[in-house]
Amino acid sequence: MKMLNVVNGPQNISRIILGCMRMPALSVEDAAKMIATSQELGINYFDHATCYGDGEAETRFGDALPLTGIKREDIYLQSKCGLHFDRQEFDWSKGDILESVDGILSRLKTDYLDALLLHRPDVLFDPEEVAEAFDILSSSGKVKHFGVSNVTPGQLDLLKKYVKQPLVFNQLQLSLDQSQLIDTPLYLNNKTTDMSIDRDNGTLEYCRLHDITIQAWSPLQIGMFKGCFVDHPDFPKLNEVMGRIGETYGVSKTAIAIAWILRHPAKMQAIAGTMNPDHLKDICDATKVDLTHKEWYDLYLASGKFLP
Ligand SMILES: NC(=O)c1ccc[n+]([C@@H]2O[C@H](COP(=O)([O-])OP(=O)(O)OC[C@H]3O[C@@H](n4cnc5c(N)ncnc54)[C@H](OP(=O)(O)O)[C@@H]3O)[C@@H](O)[C@H]2O)c1
Repeated sequence: MKMLNVVNGPQNISRIILGCMRMPALSVEDAAKMIATSQELGINYFDHATCYGDGEAETRFGDALPLTGIKREDIYLQSKCGLHFDRQEFDWSKGDILESVDGILSRLKTDYLDALLLHRPDVLFDPEEVAEAFDILSSSGKVKHFGVSNVTPGQLDLLKKYVKQPLVFNQLQLSLDQSQLIDTPLYLNNKTTDMSIDRDNGTLEYCRLHDITIQAWSPLQIGMFKGCFVDHPDFPKLNEVMGRIGETYGVSKTAIAIAWILRHPAKMQAIAGTMNPDHLKDICDATKVDLTHKEWYDLYLASGKFLP
């Protein structure tokens, strides 16, 4: 496993995260197996959110961890708050953040979170309220580190004007299929393609400049949640190139898709969403591979992009 020390953040964390969004589908015993397999593969970082299964993912994890014999202090637990599909609103108010964290801690059966992220921007957010909530969570020891998810540079600047704690993570969608973070600056000012349309105001460069570690979500998905592009018939060229490069390293296509994310010099983490131990092993093989500069470009171009 490749590890990472986050500036002003947690140290010695795994570059692969187990994302627990799909954990509600598992029994407690199977969830324990997934957690134990993760640890055997070198993963020490787990991602949650209050909305995953409406709290069920956190509950399942909290019930399963004691069955593994893994000590709480040997892993990093992260969760996200503010996204309320049930209420059809996003909420970063002080009260909602504080109440959410208490719920997370009780479902995960722990007295602290290693990291809390604000899930998706509440367009009505008041940064001073967020700052008050983070101060309470930090001084009470309930949360060690803070970050955001799907948040723009402008929103980060506004938060940073008031929030004292470093914001050390931004969780963003990135995969060989959904590579907008990389496309926009590449096609800058190019009227012949929609890929030049700036959808995130330079978030990748902002995060690198401000020591914010990007956590790439849905690293294998087509679109938002249309299935996995590995072995998908709509991606023949990409699968051919992933297969060819995989053969040279003795790893699967899946490992190569994840290695493509890890190769970026921004030193991102990739959040694996699989609940299948064999798929997770394939994903972790990515950390044995250092793609060459040319292989990275070959994969990018095979995913349907072109050089302007
Ligand atoms: N911040 C956000 O807004 C946001 C949004 C979405 C997700 N997330 C986070 O990102 C994590 C990952 O998201 P995701 O689950 O969409 O990611 P993913 O890893 O891209 O997709 C996993 C899905 O692909 C399937 N799959 C099919 N073939 C596979 C293969 N060969 N290898 C691996 N998986 C394969 C998995 O099924 P099997 O289980 O059968 O392998 C699983 O259903 C989530 O758990 C969550 O923590 C964050």
